[in-house]
Amino acid sequence: MERLQKVIALSGIASRRKAEELIKNGDVIVNGEVVTKLGTKVTYSDDILVCGKKIEKEEKEYYLFNKPRGVICSTSDDKGRKVVVDYFNSNKRLYPVGRLDYDTTGALIVTNDGNLSNLIMHPKNEIEKVYIAKLNGVIKGAEINKIKSGVIIDNVKCVPKKVKLKNFNVKKNTSIVEIIITEGKNHEVKRIFESVGFFVDKLKRERIAFLSLGNLKSGEYRKLNPKEVKQLFNLVK
Ligand code: URA
Repeated sequence: MERLQKVIALSGIASRRKAEELIKNGDVIVNGEVVTKLGTKVTYSDDILVCGKKIEKEEKEYYLFNKPRGVICSTSDDKGRKVVVDYFNSNKRLYPVGRLDYDTTGALIVTNDGNLSNLIMHPKNEIEKVYIAKLNGVIKGAEINKIKSGVIIDNVKCVPKKVKLKNFNVKKNTSIVEIIITEGKNHEVKRIFESVGFFVDKLKRERIAFLSLGNLKSGEYRKLNPKEVKQLFNLVK
């Protein structure tokens, strides 16, 4: 048994919030009766009509996308900017799992599976996100160690899983650092480096969980194979 608004949202007809509105407005009929109570429990064998349309369990799709710079991590944008789902050719209600900033590039899971999406984003599941950050400045061992021992963000101590200086250029005054985090706070990587006085000039996510970009070019996506999908579910069990 699932909550009615969840079943509607998972069917792809509407977001969870919109589903709640539809229920409250009397637009949802379950087994011939109008249901206006949020949280009513249903199953997929119940006959559910939303605004007269019967809902079916939507087939799930899972993709790995290489997000380009200058793209919003969303399904729509009120300023008309390009959004992640513009790149996809699918009749499903796809959305990105978590957020990469407008100017961040790289690995992003895109799906219509709200359940998996929530599990991947939940900090308790400690899904690894591997980033390569280009900093404006030459970072020193002491600052790297400070980050390794944890910095406070949103009143919580964030201890990255790994921080490794990959390269630096004194002439150009830049450093390249690999950082692995398992939470997903807003602008987390940028704020971690800012806390020790460095501005992140470029940020790329190279891997999420075991999914690396591989040969995917910027703006390209590939469907995850059933083994990869199973592996993702095993990670968040
Ligand atoms: N951390 C950031 O600061 N930005 C991102 O886009 C992702 C992680």
